[in-house]
Amino acid sequence: MIPIARPEISKQAKERVLEVLDSGMLAAGKYVKEFEEKFSDFIGAIYGTATSNGTTALDIALKAAGVGEGDLVLTTPFTFIASSNAILYSGARPVFVDVDRNTFNIDPEQIRAKLEKNPEISALLIVHLYGLACDMEEIMKLVREYELTLIEDCAQAHGAEYAGRKVGTSGDAAIFSFYPTKNMTTGEGGMVLTSDEEINKRAHLLVDHGQSERYYHDILGYNYRMTDIAAVIGLDQLERISEFNRKRCENAAYFIQELSDLEWLETPFVPENCLHVYHQFTVKVEERDRFAEYLKENGIGYGIHYPVPVYRQPVYQKRGYQGLELPVTEELSRKVISLPVHPSLTRAEKEEIVRVIRSFL
Ligand SMILES: Cc1ncc(COP(=O)(O)O)c(C=O)c1O
Repeated sequence: MIPIARPEISKQAKERVLEVLDSGMLAAGKYVKEFEEKFSDFIGAIYGTATSNGTTALDIALKAAGVGEGDLVLTTPFTFIASSNAILYSGARPVFVDVDRNTFNIDPEQIRAKLEKNPEISALLIVHLYGLACDMEEIMKLVREYELTLIEDCAQAHGAEYAGRKVGTSGDAAIFSFYPTKNMTTGEGGMVLTSDEEINKRAHLLVDHGQSERYYHDILGYNYRMTDIAAVIGLDQLERISEFNRKRCENAAYFIQELSDLEWLETPFVPENCLHVYHQFTVKVEERDRFAEYLKENGIGYGIHYPVPVYRQPVYQKRGYQGLELPVTEELSRKVISLPVHPSLTRAEKEEIVRVIRSFL
């Protein structure tokens, strides 16, 4: 089976993990701090707060940016459920708008239409899905016009660019995930980035039980800390992320070249001003479920990101989202399928993937 993801942990990273284990200092310490500084430098933000995973990073980002009880937050329903769950954690309510048919990202025209009808909406949580930036020019116009708090979910977009600038620096705060399938990993892990000093202060307090000094707790916080064990893996991955992303792009370019003549399969669309980092290489296929079965029988791993719009999940249906039906999201949920694009794919594996796909039908 050619897997959909294959995390690459270097010998050096393994040695550094052993060093941390031997040191006896396993929890958040100097390596977490170093990782926060180096990762925020890499993206271009001023401050970083490392977290236990991307979901806790989202929870912290929203709370630190002041999203709270009763607020309405615009967001996409075509994403991993963590994006909108974090809105619920803060006591706010997600307001779902449809995505763009080509980019799969939240559609600025739909955002505008919703804001015109509901000017009380105060925040926007966008997701740069699969490694492709949202339409930031249009989104920033709306953020300024309606004075929205903007949170960027960059869980799938480490190093992705819009107009030459990395995603994760336009909003009040941004979050990243370092889950093993992501473009870079720490095992489990996450990071909140911001260039706002107050948001940074609150984020650091929130991840560590609101402690300003040992056993002095200023606000209600959590234990969402990253460990130094995870941070040394992250530091090593950070040295390799540009190379990982380059290989993902090379693999994607190969698949686009070899598959784009197939009428029954639609390869990813990339706007000219975007650098896609292909966390996923997601294609559209009318007979998606039969195609998925066929890939499995032929030893090709795949993923369906995502088979059910967030508002259709039982947890949302129970919260008043019955009857919501956003046409593009519905269509994409039926048609999308992600193929292996990870950096450790060999030439032979790529050729096999193309051979198997081309023999479908
Ligand atoms: C878009 C998006 N947001 C948030 C998350 C949550 O990250 P984690 O799994 O690290 O909690 C993920 C992870 O899959 C994601 O894909």
